[in-house]
Amino acid sequence: MAWRNGGRGSTNVQSGRGPARSRNPRSARAIPITTEEPNLNASAQLAAAVVPAAGRGERLGPGAPKALRELGGVPLLVHAVRALARSRAVGLVVVCAPPDGVAEVVSLLDSHGLDGKDVRVVPGGASRQESVRLGLAAVPAGTRVVLVHDAARPLVPVEVVDAVAAAVRAGAAAVVPAVPLADTVKRVEPQPSGPEPVLDTPDRSTLRAVQTPQGFDLPGLVAAHERALAEGAEVTDDAGLIERFGGRVVVVPGHEEAFKVTRPLDLVLAEAVLARRRATDGY
Ligand code: CTP
Ligand code: MG
Repeated sequence: MAWRNGGRGSTNVQSGRGPARSRNPRSARAIPITTEEPNLNASAQLAAAVVPAAGRGERLGPGAPKALRELGGVPLLVHAVRALARSRAVGLVVVCAPPDGVAEVVSLLDSHGLDGKDVRVVPGGASRQESVRLGLAAVPAGTRVVLVHDAARPLVPVEVVDAVAAAVRAGAAAVVPAVPLADTVKRVEPQPSGPEPVLDTPDRSTLRAVQTPQGFDLPGLVAAHERALAEGAEVTDDAGLIERFGGRVVVVPGHEEAFKVTRPLDLVLAEAVLARRRATDGY
């Protein structure tokens, strides 16, 4: 696969599996990829970001794993990692790659500039929850704040990343960015086919569509994932685990451009947003 070289800065990409060599000869400061223990250089004051990127992207249709699909000529994953790396609050990014694609992801990240941030790549799991748990295991224990951000949200503005990290630093145990819903939502009794009876209509003003990055105090999130593993609890977002075990989760404003690329139409929208950014602010 031919990846474009963004060449915006050095990257310290480490793989949790198997040695590989830097493919970026222009990046003199690039540190060779190693199999060492989690990077301890990242200051405990800085947040670590875990990026689940191991999904297949079934709903996007046939093709490469979703995180490796391109948006404006750059893989979604690279956009997402850059969005995190742009935040001064973030010191380390741990990418959970498709289990059979670790080497490919390492060389891909190494060939794109990532503003000098430390990036570590680990194999993801069979579910998003498992991928995040495996990613958390690569975060140095002294880290206080951890963000979990979907590779499938490539265009999250840095202001959202900063706001979530700041809210955790200010004492919240779990922080979720979210936006109000445009559509009215109805709860239904799902049917295999035919019309579905409506049960009720929740008051839309109390509903929020949640996004990522979600932010946590590291020990709390690690404990929640371990308990979920022991109890077989499954949820679709990390804050859901904290809620499940009685923890307090707060919402901060998200952003409409932090939407998740899920279906083909989302990719069309993402291309348009990216084109506008490139035209108006040299993005
Ligand atoms: N993810 C992951 N490991 C999995 C499944 C999902 O790391 N086993 C990641 C995806 O790569 C994505 C994020 O979790 O960045 C959100 O998941 P989703 O949007 O559902 O992506 P996919 O699972 O890839 O898509 P689909 O459900 O359509 O197959
Ligand atoms: Mg999925």
